[in-house]
Amino acid sequence: MQREPVNHETTGVDESVDYAIQTRDLSLWYGDFQALDNISLDIKKGIITGLIGPSGCGKTTLLRCFNRINERYGNVTTTGEIEILEKNIYDSDVSTGQLRRRVGMVFQRPNPLPISIYENILFGIRVHSPARELSRKQKDELVESALREVKLWDTVKDNLKQRATHLTLEQQQKLCIARLLPLKPEIILMDEPCSALDAEGVERIESLIEGMRGDYTIVIVTHNMAQARRTSDECIFMLLGKIIEFGETSEIFFNPREEQTEMYIQGRYG
Ligand SMILES: Nc1ncnc2c1ncn2[C@@H]1O[C@H](COP(=O)(O)OP(=O)(O)OP(=O)(O)O)[C@@H](O)[C@H]1O
Ligand SMILES: [Mg+2]
Repeated sequence: MQREPVNHETTGVDESVDYAIQTRDLSLWYGDFQALDNISLDIKKGIITGLIGPSGCGKTTLLRCFNRINERYGNVTTTGEIEILEKNIYDSDVSTGQLRRRVGMVFQRPNPLPISIYENILFGIRVHSPARELSRKQKDELVESALREVKLWDTVKDNLKQRATHLTLEQQQKLCIARLLPLKPEIILMDEPCSALDAEGVERIESLIEGMRGDYTIVIVTHNMAQARRTSDECIFMLLGKIIEFGETSEIFFNPREEQTEMYIQGRYG
């Protein structure tokens, strides 16, 4: 990675606005295949940003750059800049552990660990702060508070010792969001978090995500145009590894500047 800081004077960034994620000329290759092509963007703090585009355009790849989880996926080369909360994530004093604590991720298929609901919630703390001694009361409070925040507490409070993998998919996905919360992440990345759920599950998870607006910066990948329109404040449209258009969701959907955006949201391709 190049190490030069983002130059706000030349990029025209409004200094009065706080950004959670900024990239400059970000490109990524899997071996010889270029999956991201010169991505420069500024994602604002505390809002929900949607990431849309046809299958294979690079949404998951871009999302995975923000917590450096791409590095787990084989022969990956990245060039350009990524700043998370104004810190270059490739600086030598940033550990991937620290980064992933601040930038949590929720996947397409819920992936709770095959341990109890209670232990799932505490797992992140155990991994990221192994030296931190918590009393039984502190642990109970962390678990209750996280489960309340995702509206799962009333359902599971009498079964906290039950294996999380026995929950319904919707409950598992809520748990996967809940288990990020004890780490107090500033950013939560969601890669098609509703794609494994039925219509009612989708509605409830969407309303949960909407309720998190303001407390977290959320970036959500979705193939569901209605969901992007309903949940996101700003929206990024990608095609073949490039950003075609990025702006307020209402503009992207009702007054897109680019013909390709219009064709995509009308369902004419992808
Ligand atoms: N680990 C990998 N190794 C090689 N190529 C990959 C890898 N992961 C993704 N790709 C390729 O990179 C491109 C972008 O993939 P990515 O998964 O980011 O797309 P996407 O927009 O998330 O697609 P979808 O909507 O289907 O989830 C695709 O052409 C894909 O085949
Ligand atoms: Mg994807």
